[in-house]
Amino acid sequence: MDTRKIMIEGAMNMETELLLEALTDPQEQFVGQWRFVEGKYQEVNLVVAVTSIGMTNAAAATALGIEKFRPTAVISQGTAGGHDPELKAYDIVLGRRSFDASSYRSAQEDFVDWRHMELMGSYAYDEGTQSFVPQAVYYPGDEKLLAAAQVVAKDYKRGRVVAGCIASCNTWNRQKARLQFSHNQFGSSCEDMEVNSAAQICQQYGIPFLGIRILSNTEFQAEEFQPESAKVCQQFVLAVAQQYDKALTGN
Ligand code: 5AD
Repeated sequence: MDTRKIMIEGAMNMETELLLEALTDPQEQFVGQWRFVEGKYQEVNLVVAVTSIGMTNAAAATALGIEKFRPTAVISQGTAGGHDPELKAYDIVLGRRSFDASSYRSAQEDFVDWRHMELMGSYAYDEGTQSFVPQAVYYPGDEKLLAAAQVVAKDYKRGRVVAGCIASCNTWNRQKARLQFSHNQFGSSCEDMEVNSAAQICQQYGIPFLGIRILSNTEFQAEEFQPESAKVCQQFVLAVAQQYDKALTGN
């Protein structure tokens, strides 16, 4: 039986519109307040989740979507801001890993910069001990999803595609020194407000997960939010879904 199904998440309407238009035989359902649309893209079974913005919405929609639709893989995609000064708008970051940038312990000293930050990670469910325990700070992206994305990356014409690190929290940072610090200290390539939440829920459920984020803005290149980038990201992600499915079936 054909049980493969990829859940593709996006926060804003502009981050899901193109995905929804690409579905054949779309079936819409609300679970709680969240909109999910099942359908096919070419031969691939998809469910598109419109999560709304932020970590809490992303986590809730991911958990509800998993319970309801039983996806076999999850992608959190959309726009992001640059942390790596080298990256420009339309460059894409594949989340080799992600972390919760709001989860840190400060030192007692009153540093005026951010040297006091020690990342703490999050409490996540552990199957072994059947309890919620502190996890490693960084959540890895799935290797097979990453490999599929790297195949698609070879044909990407709008910019670079890098396998990097996504810093997630409900913050929009614009201070270059702070962005640079996060890049240097924690290795972040970009920041968003959903990826690490979805990563945590997927890890708890044991479902392969990848964050794919396009830079829509970056202080380092003085590039303001570019809505068109959201579309380009969705096109890229559809190709990744197809490539991943193809790699799994060997067709
Ligand atoms: N910082 C944080 N989130 C950003 N987003 C785009 N750019 C940034 C940025 N510089 C994304 C988030 C959220 C929405 C505001 O856009 O993931 O969904």
